[in-house]
Amino acid sequence: MIHSLSRLRRLGLSLALLLTLLLLAACTGLRPALSDEAAQAAWDLSAHADSASPSFARWGNSDPPAVPVNCAKCHSTPGYLDFHGVDGSEPGVVSNPAPAGTTVECQACHSEKTDTLARATLPSGAELKGLWPNANCYECHQGRTAGSTVEQAIAGLELDRVNADLSFSNIHSNAAGPIVQGGVGGAGYQYADREYSGFFRHAPGFNGCSDCHDAHRLELTPQQCRACHASVRTVEDLRDVRVSNLDFDGDGNVREGIAAEIETLHARLLQAMQHYAAELPDAGGFSYTPNSPFFVDDQGQSFSQWTPRLLRAAYNYRVVDISPGSYAHNPTYVLQLLYDSIDDLDGDLRRSERASAD
Ligand code: HEC
Ligand code: HEC
Ligand code: HEC
Ligand code: HEC
Ligand code: HEC
Repeated sequence: MIHSLSRLRRLGLSLALLLTLLLLAACTGLRPALSDEAAQAAWDLSAHADSASPSFARWGNSDPPAVPVNCAKCHSTPGYLDFHGVDGSEPGVVSNPAPAGTTVECQACHSEKTDTLARATLPSGAELKGLWPNANCYECHQGRTAGSTVEQAIAGLELDRVNADLSFSNIHSNAAGPIVQGGVGGAGYQYADREYSGFFRHAPGFNGCSDCHDAHRLELTPQQCRACHASVRTVEDLRDVRVSNLDFDGDGNVREGIAAEIETLHARLLQAMQHYAAELPDAGGFSYTPNSPFFVDDQGQSFSQWTPRLLRAAYNYRVVDISPGSYAHNPTYVLQLLYDSIDDLDGDLRRSERASAD
């Protein structure tokens, strides 16, 4: 009797141990260790290695061929290492222009300082911690301005008065990092009387950049998403993913993908901006183009008749336009930015619901 009890206990103990091990294995993803060769092969095919892209090729044409200090952090490997002080220079700033001709190479993420990096500071000033192994992604995929940049530019100005000193500021690139962090990241212009949803808490194991994007190939593996979003087979199908059933864009369709909700509300924002501008005394019309100068007046010139109210809406319009993955990065946050911008312009929000995190 005593014997069998202790045998049971032993069995129980080893069961607990087995369960713990299984759990640990599940948490670490049971992925086989990645070899340098496999990482290299994936990286070779990635956008980070694409030396012909404008992100990396354009510096060769400058005289002398170099990446200026303002650009070198994200558009060259030596500039990125300079920013982190790996070359012995002051950390937190790029001290020297970088030689042209590099891309985002292995060393960028696997140097002595960047391999274990866990912090990043965003253009909004937000200081994030606990980002390992994705802090490097946040350092470059953060844009160059934040909603607070616009807030400073319009501080104290009358909201509906055209001000010749105002000009459009462009966030520069897809700010995936700040958008994932929502209100904490501050990518968009956040209206003072509104609350913004923070970090987009997705399913466990799908919250870090490299959980969804292969860290080297950069691509998504839609098969991973199928476990919960059953209809997904290709990357294109991801745009059809829909969990919430509120009508954010007010079009009566709550089964279309969350990407489509964002798209409709985004188009509504441009309409609301144009409507608002048309009502201003002696301001002309404008249209949007994805290339600089982005907002073009009826004469084909850079639009210059900004009021603070129009400028902050335009900033949000551009942030969403340049962020193709925002439907997965933080749909709640971008829906909030769009809703509030339209609302602030007295635009059409009939039947639309404001997104919320709960
Ligand atoms: C904080 C990081 C960061 C800084 C600093 C930065 N960029 Fe970029 N830039 C990016 C990223 C990331 C992309 C990739 C495109 C994307 O994700 O939208 C990009 C894309 C580009 C492109 C490709 C074409 C395009 O417009 O999408 C050009 C050209 C470019 N940047 C020029 C510059 C110049 C010039 C500077 C300096 C004045 C600069 N960048 C500074 C992060 C940065
Ligand atoms: C943009 C950043 C980035 C670049 C560039 C990069 N890696 Fe990685 N690498 C990572 C991240 C993040 C991980 C952890 C992967 C994960 O969690 O899936 C990793 C993991 C690895 C691993 C697995 C072992 C380990 O340290 O965890 C190897 C091997 C590796 N990388 C090699 C390379 C090689 C070789 C290159 C250049 C061809 C390269 N990496 C370029 C970000 C990068
Ligand atoms: C040193 C700056 C830097 C770091 C670090 C970095 N990126 Fe990038 N990333 C870029 C630039 C610049 C581009 C644009 C490259 C091009 O145009 O070919 C880019 C392109 C991409 C793209 C493709 C975008 C497209 O338009 O096809 C993805 C996805 C991406 N990065 C994800 C990541 C992830 C995930 C990490 C972290 C593991 C990371 N990046 C780290 C600078 C960086
Ligand atoms: C839940 C999974 C998920 C996470 C987490 C995630 N992404 Fe994405 N990302 C996506 C999807 C989905 C797209 C859109 C792909 C499409 O529609 O082609 C995307 C698009 C992008 C793009 C634009 C690529 C392109 O083709 O234009 C970049 C750059 C990017 N993500 C970087 C990041 C960075 C940096 C992080 C971490 C801060 C991150 N992503 C976190 C799923 C994710
Ligand atoms: C383990 C289950 C699970 C996996 C795997 C998963 N997701 Fe999700 N996903 C969820 C849950 C739960 C939500 C709802 C989160 C919320 O709104 O708080 C969600 C929400 C989303 C949304 C927003 C939908 C909406 O209506 O707001 C998108 C887009 C998305 N996931 C994309 C992805 C992508 C891309 C992948 C694969 C890289 C993925 N998911 C993998 C569980 C999962």
